[in-house]
Amino acid sequence: TATNVKCYTVSSVKMDKEILEKAKKLAGYKAVDDNLKSGLRVGIGSGSTIKYVVDRIKELGLDVICVPTSFQSTQLIVNAGLTLSDLSRTPELDITIDGADEVDSQLNCIKGGGACQLQEKIVAAASKRLVIVADFTKDSQAFGQQWKRGIPIEVVPMAYVPVMNKLSSMSLKPVLRMAVNKAGPVVSDNANFIIDAQFESISNVAELATKIKMIPGVVETGLFVNMASRAYFGQQDGTVKERT
Ligand code: 5RP
Repeated sequence: TATNVKCYTVSSVKMDKEILEKAKKLAGYKAVDDNLKSGLRVGIGSGSTIKYVVDRIKELGLDVICVPTSFQSTQLIVNAGLTLSDLSRTPELDITIDGADEVDSQLNCIKGGGACQLQEKIVAAASKRLVIVADFTKDSQAFGQQWKRGIPIEVVPMAYVPVMNKLSSMSLKPVLRMAVNKAGPVVSDNANFIIDAQFESISNVAELATKIKMIPGVVETGLFVNMASRAYFGQQDGTVKERT
């Protein structure tokens, strides 16, 4: 019956979400346990997995200096009662822990599913190490196997049409990211727009990242090339897979 179908759908969606949340928590907790101690200067990434990193820091009572990568991340730090700083006061960080939308076999990442890639990249670049925390669905050999929404690219609003045209001429399929209610474009924490550039396959990630970055109007891309040194992927069976 229709009622049965509805019940099945609701419960299976709920179960999937529970599995994913468990995997995110496993990754976040292990990354903190393995990499953080009091006294460190820590970049705090953005997204749903990073919540568990902040939870674990709080649970362990670690006295770390936290530099956020977004408005969301600032709220997480403040709400947890952790020490909040910024790159003006703390320009050099020991480590950043952040999420990712897809991580390839070389630890290159696609980031920006939450439109935070500009500040995330700035904070990661100010850090000695970037450690990624993610559930098992982000674990990939080559980009596009897992993440289907394309490369998030932050652009200056007045440039979005010429930037999209240039991306199309590079065999990418650019889509302007719209707000959930479709009332207008998503606006980043830096008052820019986000273009998601879909692709068939990427032969040279570093080359593509440079080409996109060179387009006038592009502020930053969600391709993080050679930045991460370790990734933790929470698994369905309760273990955590590491990649270095
Ligand atoms: C935000 C990001 C996030 O780190 C990325 O989208 C992963 O998010 P989640 O932990 O929710 O899967 O890059 O711009």
